[in-house]
Amino acid sequence: MMKKTVLVSGGAGYIGSHVSVELLSAGYDVVVADNFSNCDLTCFEGVRKITGRDDLPLVKMDFCDAAAVRKLFSDYPIDAVIHFAAFKAVGESVEQPLKYYKNNLDSFLNVQESAQAHSAKVLFSSSATVYGEPDKMPVTEESPRKPATSPYGNTKQICEDILRDTIFASKGAVQGIALRYFNPIGAHPSALIGELPRGVPNNLVPYITQTAIGKRECLSIFGNDYPTPDGTCLRDYIDIVDLAKAHVFAVRRMLEARMEADYEIFNIGTGRPVSVLELVQAFERVNGLKLNYRFAPRREGDVPAIWADPSRANTVLGWRAERTIEETLAAAWAWEKHLAGI
Ligand code: WQD
Repeated sequence: MMKKTVLVSGGAGYIGSHVSVELLSAGYDVVVADNFSNCDLTCFEGVRKITGRDDLPLVKMDFCDAAAVRKLFSDYPIDAVIHFAAFKAVGESVEQPLKYYKNNLDSFLNVQESAQAHSAKVLFSSSATVYGEPDKMPVTEESPRKPATSPYGNTKQICEDILRDTIFASKGAVQGIALRYFNPIGAHPSALIGELPRGVPNNLVPYITQTAIGKRECLSIFGNDYPTPDGTCLRDYIDIVDLAKAHVFAVRRMLEARMEADYEIFNIGTGRPVSVLELVQAFERVNGLKLNYRFAPRREGDVPAIWADPSRANTVLGWRAERTIEETLAAAWAWEKHLAGI
């Protein structure tokens, strides 16, 4: 059977590199395309080392360049595209909305247009942020999307709508899936790929590991007066390798014509809420260290609690999160030590 080819846009980044590893081990051909605006070659080279695929194609290009996207689709026999190429810092999107709307929407419009022209399936990297502050927990795919609380979150909602509307207008010619991730954390067990935030990390786990390695002085836990069991926010932390495998299930579902509708949405989470303090304590326990942290005021825009009901992904997609939070935090720490040359 002819091998299928999957384009991974933004494939040199954190999630894209982990997904490329899983796609290659599942027997797909992969093309990685990235403009390296938010990453360097570390993770791409890590993918090649993990998979032994020194021939893994890499195209340096910007998905906001429509001609470059069209050329990509004519240069490679793309059967499916997974679209990660987007800016993703919530706070930065509030300060620079135009940069986010232009980049995240133009790049997705170009991908959607070329995918449609080549009958390629589209898998969109969406986010639980589209639910805003949900009324009911856990969150299902039927939970209403709330007005976005940031331009970043709004671009995720708008791209979902672009995908949905072009699929419906195509009357079955085009199909696609949106995966709504909860909080991706951790690193590949090889410690050759992982999260590489530029500058001061916005997200919790890289801030923890950089504090533990001594790059940061002290972790501030933003708020311990929330209406939660220990006062700190609850999140659904999904291991990056589990998350990456969910993309293989989704690609397979589209390419093997297993879809029940032309447009499908899945929440990708564990279904297990974990508080910030519980995660910090798990990190200390599993790695045998003491973390320097303090309780600080709440961070603007944080929702007190959000976690997934992943039953649709479990039953319909056939995917389930398998790794424990301890395994994930041990891998995150191993990655940070690898970066420090330890
Ligand atoms: C998690 C919890 C913080 C840092 C965002 C985006 C989401 C996705 C993941 C892109 C919160 C607390 C954090 C710190 C802390 N991004 N925290 N000290 O905000 O849930 O989700 O990142 O795809 O779309 O919305 O993730 O890791 O920033 O925060 O106490 O130094 O950790 O207050 O409660 P978040 P996060």
